[in-house]
Amino acid sequence: KSNKFNYTNMTSRRQFFKYLLAIAIVPIPVLSAVSKKIFSNKFSVPRLELGERKGKDVYFNLNIQKGLSQILPGKATPTWGINQPFLGTTLRAKKGDSVHINVSNSLSRTTTLHWHGVKLPAKADGGPHQPIHPGKTWLSEYEINQPAASLWYHAHQMHETGEQVYNGLAGMFIVDDDESKLLGLPSEYGIDDFPVIIQDKEINKDGSFEYIGRFDVEAGMMGKMGETILVNGVTNSLLSAQKSLIRLRILNGSNARIYNLQFDDNRSFKIIASDGGLLEESVSVNNITIAPAERIEIVVDVSDGARITLIHNAQMDGMGNMESSEMGFFETIAMSIFADDSPPKNYNIFQIDASKALPSSTTVPIKLSTHQDISQEPIAERRTMLLKMEDGSPFTTMTVAILGSKDLMTINGKSMDINRIDEVVKAGTVEVWKIVNASMMAHPFHIHNVQFKVLNKMHGIKGHELGYKDVVLVQPGETLEVVMKFPDFRDDKTPYMYHCHILEHEDRGMMGQFVVV
Ligand code: C2O
Ligand code: CU
Ligand code: CU
Repeated sequence: KSNKFNYTNMTSRRQFFKYLLAIAIVPIPVLSAVSKKIFSNKFSVPRLELGERKGKDVYFNLNIQKGLSQILPGKATPTWGINQPFLGTTLRAKKGDSVHINVSNSLSRTTTLHWHGVKLPAKADGGPHQPIHPGKTWLSEYEINQPAASLWYHAHQMHETGEQVYNGLAGMFIVDDDESKLLGLPSEYGIDDFPVIIQDKEINKDGSFEYIGRFDVEAGMMGKMGETILVNGVTNSLLSAQKSLIRLRILNGSNARIYNLQFDDNRSFKIIASDGGLLEESVSVNNITIAPAERIEIVVDVSDGARITLIHNAQMDGMGNMESSEMGFFETIAMSIFADDSPPKNYNIFQIDASKALPSSTTVPIKLSTHQDISQEPIAERRTMLLKMEDGSPFTTMTVAILGSKDLMTINGKSMDINRIDEVVKAGTVEVWKIVNASMMAHPFHIHNVQFKVLNKMHGIKGHELGYKDVVLVQPGETLEVVMKFPDFRDDKTPYMYHCHILEHEDRGMMGQFVVV
């Protein structure tokens, strides 16, 4: 049942994808309409927590809680947060530290707290196997043994990750190390170094977040998106720059939206880090594409004192050339139903006013770090991960659509089963995983407990994809490979996850489990 699709003759489907996905292949520097607005909400800098330090041991107390936040003027939005009403505080520790994180759940729902991008024992991972029931606490302990990076943490409750992250259970976890300090990069938190957690929400008239209902097939299929863009929980915010060099630790914390980011004056900026930490060399670009769960650190020079807006340029055409695809029955139907010819829409993310910025004393070096070359090491195992949006049988998929079951999405033909171990990996070995996207949507593929390098990517490897990654965007019809060395934590009972980081896909089964032995 292999079908050939010619996208050039499929205008509405193409438009639809332009509108929804907009993945950058060709940079188009056009943007006038969106950016002249003046933003006035204060840029929100999440509170920084350093924990309680006793030598190399650092103790954090986290409380997962409900709260009320003012996101739209005069409206109270029920939100969830960690140590604050909405989103998590920024945690910070150092390579070599042993962290002890005590997580209490004050919600009336079971949740988890996952350390995304961290190399750690499976029991400390915070995935679906470490549920924290209402009123209970969970202790996650591990030693940080990886370079400086912008990692993050978020809820990972089975079938509910999408809703729980949407409500606010996500925050940034910054790891420092001595080597990166010597580079003199902007690194004063809240002064010239900022987390930028980008999320899109659908907000009801009464201020409440609108997530998806059981029968909302479109959002289930495409992932939940919304028209209101938040940065660190605030819309239309303005960052008054104090320094002329600004470091932004951008995290796409959205459930499903992929952003093509650029400044409205199309100025260039430098990419310094990817998910797993500093690149070997900084890269100068005018735009970046960032998929859900990815982190890209950039440094932008605002010494000209301008007022600039970071925007999502949805006009960048993202389809690429998909030669053929093995598309399922339901996916085909869904794509035609949801096809939309409305023009792609740009979004303002936030604004920087540099009129009062003082000159920074540093510059961004070209050489930033040296990555260990594992390509010469023997490859212990090669695996293939085939991503599909359904199992292909018309009967199953129609039943699924009608009954709203969550088993629409598969990896290697299987939907996630928490009682099934899909792969067994040997600790300390190097593996190559081939990720094959046999669907019409792009999927950001994530693996727990590792930082990998991207190899053999059809559309080329550039920018942040040259660095260490724990999630990689796989375009429709694309095949790529990742190579990684699995850390030496063994536990044949407790699995780690790999999955699509469009949270609605993860919740509907595009996830699998591996143990390291
Ligand atoms: Cu960020 Cu398994 O997730
Ligand atoms: Cu993860
Ligand atoms: Cu997906």
